[in-house]
Amino acid sequence: MTDQSLLKGLKKRAVKVLKDNDTGNSTKPAPLLYPHQWMWDSAFIAIGLSHIDEERAQQEILSLLRGQWTNGMIPHIIFNPHYAKYFPNPAFWNTPACFSGAPKTVQTSGITQPPILASATYAVFKNSSNKKKATAFLKKVFPALKKYYRFFLTYRDPIEEGLAYIIHPWESGLDNSPRWDEVLSNIKMKWTPKYERVDNKIISPEQRPGGQEYDKYTYLVELFRDVNYDSNRIWDENPFIVQPVLFNCLLYESTQSLKEICKILDEDTAEIEQWTLKIRNGINNKLWDKNLKMYCDFDLKNNRLIKKDTIASFTPLYAGIPSQGIADLLVNTLMLPTQYWPTDGYPLTSVSMSAPEFDPKKYWRGPVWININWLMINGLQRYAYYEEAGRLIEKTIDLVLKSGFYEYFDPFTGKGYGSDKFSWSASLIIDLLETYGKY
Ligand code: SER
Repeated sequence: MTDQSLLKGLKKRAVKVLKDNDTGNSTKPAPLLYPHQWMWDSAFIAIGLSHIDEERAQQEILSLLRGQWTNGMIPHIIFNPHYAKYFPNPAFWNTPACFSGAPKTVQTSGITQPPILASATYAVFKNSSNKKKATAFLKKVFPALKKYYRFFLTYRDPIEEGLAYIIHPWESGLDNSPRWDEVLSNIKMKWTPKYERVDNKIISPEQRPGGQEYDKYTYLVELFRDVNYDSNRIWDENPFIVQPVLFNCLLYESTQSLKEICKILDEDTAEIEQWTLKIRNGINNKLWDKNLKMYCDFDLKNNRLIKKDTIASFTPLYAGIPSQGIADLLVNTLMLPTQYWPTDGYPLTSVSMSAPEFDPKKYWRGPVWININWLMINGLQRYAYYEEAGRLIEKTIDLVLKSGFYEYFDPFTGKGYGSDKFSWSASLIIDLLETYGKY
């Protein structure tokens, strides 16, 4: 294991990243590239913060809830009015004018992101030393959280399969994953959106999604705006309606966390237990491909499984979805040096190294991400792969010791890509250090 003083220094630097990105009640995911509050970023950030400042961790989540829509959705961006430089900006989303249930005093986007929030909230509670205050916090957030998860089971699962669908690649969290290539390329745009990107002026374009993808991302937002963010019309008119495995695994695990929160608050768990059962069946019945022996996503518009070798296929381990036998199979593939765990390099690649789309530099098309490693470390632990989890922890810590808290990393050289001083990289390293050794 790495020298203790090195790890102490690492933790200090991680805490500084979070402090520097702190805007008061919420944390920017990155200093320039992402200057507002992002949803799944803040969930991961709250987990790290819970080890260093309990109240500030709670505040991170409360700040997110300010953006909740009346239908229960928590948007993926809560805009900070003091920072203008981001595309698409609040005027582009135009949510309060289009949808009467969007908040009037807080500017938000009009889509959501992977729903790990209840699990993060539960982690904030578990890591707290002042349980009285932490219980009061749970009491305060529980109604909004329950409403958020009910949103998925009602508005995002109209055919009642126990699987939530997403309406935009940004909702997947894995924006330019090869999983979306075919769906996106099949979209025939009825107009060409006019816009100016900011991201590829800050970060080298070879590390960011391409122009054609961005056209589609922007086109879809314009489409949602045109139908006033109406769920029924989006279901009818949006060409991108997908049930992703990663998204649904985080949804599933969050309903489990919500159940634990109910028990602490002495609330009835019946409705949530129904959700849990439904989602578990949905994932195992519809997203597991028996022949390929892999978990896939489902493209509802083209009625087919999306069979791409990316790390998302392994996230059922995090949620405890597969049987031990299937988990053994998944772990075996995960560790192959030709797939996700390069010899002499840094695991885990976000796309299989054997896949034709693999690109070690480009955002969600190959680089290593700290949040994915964190999910997989928890998954390996869950299935008693302690030695493998330990190796992944060491490699993940080596990576940030070598390169700093970048957004993503080259799996062969460890070079950092995207934004430096990336909040969830710092936050989840704090969690790993605190959970697997006290520093
Ligand atoms: N991840 C997206 C971006 O790159 C949006 O949420 O800006």
